[in-house]
Amino acid sequence: MTKSAQRIVSGALTAEEARLEASVRPKRLSDFVGQSRVKELLSITIEAAKSRGEALDHVLLYGPPGLGKTTLAQILANEMGVSIKTSSGPLLERKGDLTAVLTALETGEMFFLDEIHRLFPEIEEILYPAMEDFQIDLVIGQGPGARIHPYRLNRFTLIGATTRAGLLTAPLRSRFGLVHRLDFYTPEELLRIVLRSAKILEIGIDEAGAREIARRSRGTPRVANRLLRRVRDFAQVRAKGHISLEVARESLGLLGVDEQGLDEVDRSLLRALIDKYSGGPVGLGTLAATLSEEEDAIEEICEPYLMQLGMLDRTPRGRVATALAYKHFGLEPGSRQPNLF
Ligand SMILES: Nc1ncnc2c1ncn2[C@@H]1O[C@H](COP(=O)(O)OP(=O)(O)OP(=O)(O)O)[C@@H](O)[C@H]1O
Ligand SMILES: [Mg+2]
Repeated sequence: MTKSAQRIVSGALTAEEARLEASVRPKRLSDFVGQSRVKELLSITIEAAKSRGEALDHVLLYGPPGLGKTTLAQILANEMGVSIKTSSGPLLERKGDLTAVLTALETGEMFFLDEIHRLFPEIEEILYPAMEDFQIDLVIGQGPGARIHPYRLNRFTLIGATTRAGLLTAPLRSRFGLVHRLDFYTPEELLRIVLRSAKILEIGIDEAGAREIARRSRGTPRVANRLLRRVRDFAQVRAKGHISLEVARESLGLLGVDEQGLDEVDRSLLRALIDKYSGGPVGLGTLAATLSEEEDAIEEICEPYLMQLGMLDRTPRGRVATALAYKHFGLEPGSRQPNLF
């Protein structure tokens, strides 16, 4: 496992967590905290489709890991009162894998396709006519005698999800009627999520403790739920199971999550920029090599949040540490630091 996959503040999902997440995952739109614009737009679309008795238009959800794409897809199915089948880009290896799913979809049924940017090109091509005309070409037989047989699909709804909308091809993207971006959550919204999860998991917590967890969750519900569980462990051993402000502070400190929600990897990224490269610009490849991290992990997990905090800039010439990054470490902006490497 890479360092990133083990990070406590990583938005990425671990296997053990998938089970735990199911218990706190909101089931209805009304339980889904935040993202008010997306929620409002979706609820209008749902109501309109329902009143016309039609399937929902294809929906593309994108945004950093752990912000609620899978959750929203399941909510859409619940709200429409239809079932949902699930797969993911890299799982569909052969054309037959996709046609098998598509031909089995019933009218109105949903197909959730996660990591849609990682579809193999020849598989993606099957999706174009399927999404647009609800039709696919079945090849019957092999060799010179093979025949192409157009096959009509039921009107289904594709819900695509991706953390990397930029990697989606134009033809695929254009076939989604609804495209919604999920943004980082505010500390207030995360507070509501922490309190809601604590209630479901029967964890005793003060509002101040919950606020502290929310503040350090880097805008991400998955991280908030994860920190809540880790802090609960700490509380059980050291504080009779109750999470107060002190307990939250102390355990988050022990976990290496700082006041702004940065962890070891974030801090070493910024320190490498500042100490080794005088603040940048530095190319992503160089930065990844310096940190022994994968480029993808840096781009997907570290950078969106550091940019949101205004500590990092992506410029055409590379990554740059901003004045706020220097300030975070109590340094003078632009000051050249002794080379610690
Ligand atoms: N708006 C929300 N309100 C309450 N809880 C939420 C919300 N969004 C996400 N969560 C919680 O965060 C967890 C992670 O969300 P989810 O799995 O939907 O993220 P994702 O965007 O699909 O992530 P990935 O990109 O890794 O697939 C869920 O189990 C859910 O409990
Ligand atoms: Mg997901």
